[in-house]
Amino acid sequence: MSKTEQTLSIIKPDAVERNLIDEIKKIFLSNNLEIKDSKKIHITKDEAAEFYKVHQSKPFYSDLCAYLSSGPILVMVLEGKNAVALNRELMGATDPKAAGENTIRKLYGISIDKNSVHGSDSLDNAKKEINFFFQN
Ligand code: CMP
Repeated sequence: MSKTEQTLSIIKPDAVERNLIDEIKKIFLSNNLEIKDSKKIHITKDEAAEFYKVHQSKPFYSDLCAYLSSGPILVMVLEGKNAVALNRELMGATDPKAAGENTIRKLYGISIDKNSVHGSDSLDNAKKEINFFFQN
């Protein structure tokens, strides 16, 4: 059974910098995901560290936080049937080299760090990540 969900999507600095926002939004919209909220922001390294704290024990954590705070990003709430899994399918594998044809990371990703987009990996994390950026 498919259910309507919300998930968090981030268009990362490498894609914002290359003016890919509209191209990436088009992929979501043409795959039945609605953009319920969005904002362009530039976060601090401390905010990135808080957002990515599940990765704090990883060797790439510091670079990851420096990168996400290196320039403007677009944060979006996507909504649709099975939005969490659908967004991850549309993004493709974390490493653009391993991503499937026509996925966002295959089309636009530069490297495992500059992989153009982030998407929540579970419904539980989607709720936490949406709340992190969009507190009402
Ligand atoms: P993202 O989906 O935003 O979640 C964490 C990010 O860490 C991931 O995308 C990658 O951009 C980045 N990263 C860098 N190195 C690695 C790695 N070895 N494995 C997984 N993610 C990595």
